[in-house]
Amino acid sequence: MIQKYVFGQPVNTDAVVLDIPESQEEFSVMELTESDGIRLCCRMEEEDVVYGLGEQVRGINKRGFSYISYAEDDSIHIESRHSLYGAHNFLVLNRRNQKENPDGSRSFGIFVDDPGKVVFDVGETKRDQLVIQAGGDCVIYVIEGEGMKEIVKQFRRLIGQSYLPPKWAFGYQQSRWGYQNEEDVREVVKGHHDRGIPLEAVYLDIDYMEAYKDFTVDEKKFPEFKSFVGEMKGRGVHLVPIIDAGVKIEKGYPVYEEGVRNHYFCKDENGEDFVAAVWPGRVHFPDVLNPEARAWFGGKYEILMEQGIDGFWNDMNEPAIFYSEKNLKKVMEEVISLKDENLDIDSYFHLTGIVAGLANNQEDYKSFYHNVDGVKLRHDKVHNLYGFNMTRAAAEAFGRIAPDKRTLLFSRSSYTGMHRYGGIWTGDNESWWSHILLSIQQMPSLNMCGILYTGSDIGGFASDTTEDLLMRWLEAAMFTPLMRNHSAKGTRRQEVYQFEHIEDFRNIIRMRYGLVPYIYSEYMKAALKDEMYFRPVAFDYPEDSFAYQVEDQLMVGESVMIAPVYVQNAKGRYVYLPEEMRMIRMRSLEDLTSQVIEKGCHYIGMELNELVIFVKKNHVLPLAVLENEVLTTADLAEADIKWIGFVEEPVEYVFYDDDGISGSCVPEKDWRKVTVRKTDLVY
Ligand code: NOJ
Repeated sequence: MIQKYVFGQPVNTDAVVLDIPESQEEFSVMELTESDGIRLCCRMEEEDVVYGLGEQVRGINKRGFSYISYAEDDSIHIESRHSLYGAHNFLVLNRRNQKENPDGSRSFGIFVDDPGKVVFDVGETKRDQLVIQAGGDCVIYVIEGEGMKEIVKQFRRLIGQSYLPPKWAFGYQQSRWGYQNEEDVREVVKGHHDRGIPLEAVYLDIDYMEAYKDFTVDEKKFPEFKSFVGEMKGRGVHLVPIIDAGVKIEKGYPVYEEGVRNHYFCKDENGEDFVAAVWPGRVHFPDVLNPEARAWFGGKYEILMEQGIDGFWNDMNEPAIFYSEKNLKKVMEEVISLKDENLDIDSYFHLTGIVAGLANNQEDYKSFYHNVDGVKLRHDKVHNLYGFNMTRAAAEAFGRIAPDKRTLLFSRSSYTGMHRYGGIWTGDNESWWSHILLSIQQMPSLNMCGILYTGSDIGGFASDTTEDLLMRWLEAAMFTPLMRNHSAKGTRRQEVYQFEHIEDFRNIIRMRYGLVPYIYSEYMKAALKDEMYFRPVAFDYPEDSFAYQVEDQLMVGESVMIAPVYVQNAKGRYVYLPEEMRMIRMRSLEDLTSQVIEKGCHYIGMELNELVIFVKKNHVLPLAVLENEVLTTADLAEADIKWIGFVEEPVEYVFYDDDGISGSCVPEKDWRKVTVRKTDLVY
């Protein structure tokens, strides 16, 4: 059951797709006060667990910290951060002892549809209190149902079906900020292919553009871009260019000229086009909240699609600002005035503070405006909608330009609702072991909010990776729909062939291809049925009190549990099995062993080059057996499907598959039901 409550005069965010009448009942799941915006408060029982909030720091259970929904471009994803790049204001408070609860209070989900700043204090200030502080103009949805899965499913119905990527987007992808030109890309493709390592896509980061201008290609670096895209496609490799939010201010640059002429850019308080700066220096921001400007900006993707491009990643769309022209002027004057001063503790910190405060300054976010159907909206009030609408601009345009095809699309910034248009990647992490764990913990929270196509920068974006970190990370990301190795300029090269144990990397990436039939089947079923692909263990075992404490294992699809290693030098780890399961150990696709392990906590050895997964009782998964060389997902069409799993009596598996590219999917009635017997299992 979903109840809708409207406060003040909210902006239509398009986060939800169901038209629900306003509730006539009193708001009762939390205590509500209306002063200084909306404040909601409720007591948490000792055993209550809070799940959700999408892209955030910290654990799967969000208790014990405050989270702020305010999309931020900050690459230091440490525990003390309160915001990352996205804003997903949905949480579920799971009341475990609801039957015995004297006041009869039950589990509930809550979605605060407010595109400005929202603070969730999940027991940080007071251990037993959940406090949500939102603006005065918002819509709040309260969802009650039988258990966590059911509450999430209702929320997912409310916000609409998740994005469907093409099947090739489930293959292994290589990226790095720093690939400059055709030669660099060819070398990366050759580096993989010469060693028999599958590769589906190479990413083009900002250096492919001419002077960082969106929708341009530097002709010196890519003299024949269209034929180069074709050449790469011929080798099975898709090129995926980045698109940035800021449009360079440059006379004669058509995107800039058209945007100015048609008033498609965000305006400052004087009605002039707002000037900020990002990679190319001064830029304007397309007003993607304005439907006309959105259609115009989205249409520009066609420039690259005409050259054969079929995948994009949208970046810097919080939007990130290095500085605004206005603030830079002010800060420069102040810095110059301090030139000959003897700086003491206060003046020195003031100086460093104003310089550091140039980037992503809150005052700048208050100084520009959107025009939505003639209504002027100050940016900070709708800040979290920018990345969503930039991505929507692209997706809506793909619907016009290539309606019969699925196009790969994901974004850095997002708001609830964006999951209908594309995925996200989790931004600038570090080559840290703790960031493997963080990436595991982010997956189910993102899935709750509809974001199914997602993954982290494998190997770590910032700082130098190591061979063992990269290998463990690939194993941990074996099931993430987006499996992309990405790193920052200036860091150690981290394409897998740069390391000593290339054979191990090849085996691991081939295992991914072996598992693609399961990954794709489970992803598509989850997307088409509003379900979660990654789930916290307690979602599948709600009666098991220990399962609520598991923070480093996940359920994936209907059959599998994963328990990755994320500690350096570890040769294994403790794994909690909520029921008897079959453990399958893979050293390569040809070298599998399996063993039934009983319920409980066990130390399981896991060598650096091994993938270990756990299969639930009476469950199976399809595995592609790669007889011939497989370099892309397209080659999988030739592969034999074998079954692995844990079966005593015959079980039925719904095996979803389609052509992997056309927009329309196989209707549910045609989903293939396969009966698998114990004798059919290879392991
Ligand atoms: C920031 C993005 O998060 C990162 O992935 C990208 O490499 C850089 N921008 C450069 O475009």
